[in-house]
Amino acid sequence: MVILIGNKKIKAAVFISGAGTNLESLIKFSKKKRSPFIVQLIISNNLRSKGLRFAKIFGIKKRIFKFKKKKLDEKKILKILKFEKINLICLAGFMKILSKSFIKNFKGKILNIHPSLLPKYKGLNTHKRVLLNKEKYTGCTVHFVSPNLDSGKIIMQKKIKVKKKDTPEKLGKRVLIEEHKLYPKAILKIFNL
Ligand code: GRF
Repeated sequence: MVILIGNKKIKAAVFISGAGTNLESLIKFSKKKRSPFIVQLIISNNLRSKGLRFAKIFGIKKRIFKFKKKKLDEKKILKILKFEKINLICLAGFMKILSKSFIKNFKGKILNIHPSLLPKYKGLNTHKRVLLNKEKYTGCTVHFVSPNLDSGKIIMQKKIKVKKKDTPEKLGKRVLIEEHKLYPKAILKIFNL
């Protein structure tokens, strides 16, 4: 559990690589009164992430680090996070793996959303693998980030039914809709709200 001090909202940084639909849902939620956080900063490793447009739309600072020199970029990011007084990191479709030492610096304060019912289907191409294995259910998971990929403590999950006519794309779309609802809920949960 993360403890809130007073009524002040804590500052979050959202890390993205792609479309940023989870980022959008987090920003929209953050504007609600009951949200314990504001999105102070957007970080991306990909200059072409569509999600970066939300920085302009919502007036949020953005920074791009390509992670070509991972150690150096992580050092720079940590400096910025400190400067911006960031207390929560939300990974939302961020395709780079953060180092052990980076995670240690933000212990218990980095969350991730994954499009499967973890511990099943860690890694990429989850929907395709779910369909190949003829699973009846799938879903999404919000979890704390630990040094092992998609393995940190689970905060919340949402289960949905796989349909007979599903394709990875169709299934992915339905899971994504649930992701947008689950991420804010999971954040409320860690703040005990
Ligand atoms: C989501 O399915 C998320 O679970 C996964 O990557 C996708 C990102 O989508 N880690 P978006 O960029 O938030 O639209």
